[in-house]
Amino acid sequence: MKFTKSGSGLRGELAVPGDKSISHRSVMFGSIARGTTEIRNYLQGADCLSTISCFRSMGIEIENKGSVVLVHGKGLHGLSRPAAVLDCGNSGTTTRLISGILAAQDFDVTLTGDASIQKRPMKRIIEPLSLMGADIASVKGNGCAPLRISGRPLHGISYTSRVASAQVKSAILLAGLYADGETRVTEPYLSRNHSEIMLNYFGADVRTEDSRTENGVTAVIRPASELHGGLVEVPGDISSAAFFLCAGLMIPGSEILIRNTGVNPTRAGILEVVRNMGADITLLNETSGSGEPTADILVRSSSLHGTVIEGAIIPTLIDELPMLAAMACLAEGETVIRDAAELKVKESNRIAVMTENLTAMGADVTETEDGMIIRGGKPLHGAAVDSHSDHRIAMTFAVLGLCADGETEVAGAECVNISYPEFYQDLKKLIVH
Ligand code: S3P
Repeated sequence: MKFTKSGSGLRGELAVPGDKSISHRSVMFGSIARGTTEIRNYLQGADCLSTISCFRSMGIEIENKGSVVLVHGKGLHGLSRPAAVLDCGNSGTTTRLISGILAAQDFDVTLTGDASIQKRPMKRIIEPLSLMGADIASVKGNGCAPLRISGRPLHGISYTSRVASAQVKSAILLAGLYADGETRVTEPYLSRNHSEIMLNYFGADVRTEDSRTENGVTAVIRPASELHGGLVEVPGDISSAAFFLCAGLMIPGSEILIRNTGVNPTRAGILEVVRNMGADITLLNETSGSGEPTADILVRSSSLHGTVIEGAIIPTLIDELPMLAAMACLAEGETVIRDAAELKVKESNRIAVMTENLTAMGADVTETEDGMIIRGGKPLHGAAVDSHSDHRIAMTFAVLGLCADGETEVAGAECVNISYPEFYQDLKKLIVH
């Protein structure tokens, strides 16, 4: 797909699709709850459809009516053995969170996914789940999917994760629902807490310990006898909003209102970073639905300068770093991203791919072990870049193509269907001709 410079800016209003993390959790937790869970604004991207199909193949009736999804939960022990291998597609969240649930069932299952999923690290969940008594193994012995899981009775553990990962934390918390005692997970920095919020909303007992120890932040769950389904209103995904937020800031003459966006502080680090860079953004109509804060975000084009992005803020904007790195190329001065080695094990190696693609467009970028150094202000020119089948890379370069001279061609642009099938149509609607 090809993109050329937008002369007159982006203007208008939009609501981005539902949050990917919250959508996954609503189907998973709804499936193991009693009663019907009604999910409004469920993300109809391929990743979240993989989660629906996995739970359907374990006997859960799920009605997908588009704007509303109804999950007829069967309780904590109501899943049945799937007839075939569970296919998690491209979705790390499906693979890792479902493993925490499957570890405690009374059946065996094998799960796998696409070529990218089969390269992503799963030892980070195999290790803690095994410590809880689970029988879980990488079929090829390489620490990746396919995974074979035989359900077992589990016991509570106190586990310290080396990485701040909501997928690791959530897998352990879900297994902890079924354990014989309290389960504690400590992570170096607080990662997104959607599981904690929704599990509590469904009647579980999860808390985050306030006292931040030297090791980090701890989530604690007690075993549950039952979860109760309910109404889940999924806010717009701030990780999808990020592309319009940055496009609006970068392209002169822009003014965009992004409605009903999730602004949970464990996800909203991008707002702080862009403000540090000089962004003109305003939050309007701040409210909350199903325990998750939301707001409309008004964005106006701004003159930006470089910043440092590091430490505790990294997990709160991990999926936005490709777009932020691209935006830093147009900011005055240097931007340093560090403590972000996790970028290497996402849908692609996002440090390597961003460095390669930005360099191809004329940016001055140095790849580091755990991030990038970007010296902004150099004029960008269009180039042929590759998404490496990574949805966030494809969207980043669609936006950057609107800021560069000449033509930018993004190979593999269709992978946006993972998290935002209507992305190109929504972007096109905002372009002023
Ligand atoms: C997610 C957690 C993050 C994020 C991913 C979604 C989740 O991954 O990058 O897109 O829904 O829990 P990690 O847990 O690997 O950091």
